[in-house]
Amino acid sequence: MEAKVKLARRICEVQPSATLATDAKARQLQAQGMDIIGFSVGEPDFNTPEHIVAAGAAAMKAGDTKYGAKRGAELKKLSAEKLKRENALEYNPENIIVSNGAKQSLYNIMQVVVDEGDEVIIPAPYWVSYLEQVRLAGGKPVILPTNEETGFKITPQQLAQAITPRTKLFIHNSPSNPTGAVYTPAEIQAIGAVIEKAGIVALSDEIYEHLIYSDTPPLSLAVVSPGLRKQVVTINGCSKTFSMTGWRIGWAAGPDEIIKAALKFQSHATSDPAAFSQAAAAEAYKDLNQSAAAVGNMRRQFDMRRKRMHSRLNKLPGVTCLEPMGAFYCFPNVSGVFGRNLSGVSIGSPMNFCNAALEKAGVALVPGEAFGSSQHVRLSYATSLELIDKGLDRLEKMLNEG
Ligand SMILES: Cc1ncc(COP(=O)(O)O)c(C=O)c1O
Repeated sequence: MEAKVKLARRICEVQPSATLATDAKARQLQAQGMDIIGFSVGEPDFNTPEHIVAAGAAAMKAGDTKYGAKRGAELKKLSAEKLKRENALEYNPENIIVSNGAKQSLYNIMQVVVDEGDEVIIPAPYWVSYLEQVRLAGGKPVILPTNEETGFKITPQQLAQAITPRTKLFIHNSPSNPTGAVYTPAEIQAIGAVIEKAGIVALSDEIYEHLIYSDTPPLSLAVVSPGLRKQVVTINGCSKTFSMTGWRIGWAAGPDEIIKAALKFQSHATSDPAAFSQAAAAEAYKDLNQSAAAVGNMRRQFDMRRKRMHSRLNKLPGVTCLEPMGAFYCFPNVSGVFGRNLSGVSIGSPMNFCNAALEKAGVALVPGEAFGSSQHVRLSYATSLELIDKGLDRLEKMLNEG
């Protein structure tokens, strides 16, 4: 008889990433010859800026292909300088850990902060991996719902009411994936005050900080008061800012004991990221003029696409979309379509809507269920204006013709 492997309970309780699953389904249909327009993937479509690629290639040619600890020291120093320059946060390089993407930075912190049964407060809609990373650490996610009325943002009162003696961690993400919500400095101050008073740890995921489409500069949660510096871990990285998703460089900055523990954890999991990736990331933080020009150009293009997608979504029958102010996603409410039948698919959930969009219209979207919403779908506008129009034409046709 063939032996059946019994997998560990911890992995059986975890859901696979819905974003990657939707993308895989779209690719499969594409491989079968179907013409699919993809709005599902969360990565910039631009090439990594030339000066950054050149630095990575030069490092590789120069033999920077060994373990990455040496490069790590340089990148930590440059990240500390970035935090001081852009976020008014002073950290020593020892207070920074460089990881294989911000995803690993977050995972490290969850693993060293969250104990079995600890409560972790997560505003919804949330980025898919927060919930599962909390579960992998044995924690209990406590979800704070938000909706269009509050601009998809929690209130300080809501947070204060959710905190119990078992609360260990709060996850803050602004600009938000998937809603595009951006907290104002006053809102961040108010949330910071609640966290400080409660003495809990907070993760501030600021990975989309350079993709904000208003004149209000972002405010880092850790900067709100000197006391908060002992409680907040700031997460950032190169993936979204410099269109470097494949290079896998993210980092976390925070209190001594948390970062030391995360270093210990990572040393047994993956060690440092690839040395040449770190060299490329270092260049992104060193050549400020070229990097600022490249980031500014990407932001301008994202902004045009954002406006186009947002206005076209609001013209679809049964669909309403709040204006996203950051990141590169629209998060429309499709509940006005529930109860309809679209080309034989009866629509009663975001998942049904996405299935109809993919199978009938050839448009890949991510269902809100993945982000803790039963009314929305997520579309990424990290694609050309031409494809945005083509995809929206198809959705329009599907919704008008039924
Ligand atoms: C909110 C948020 N945090 C973190 C990450 C992870 O970024 P990285 O690619 O650097 O691991 C993502 C990626 O989609 C994200 O959307």
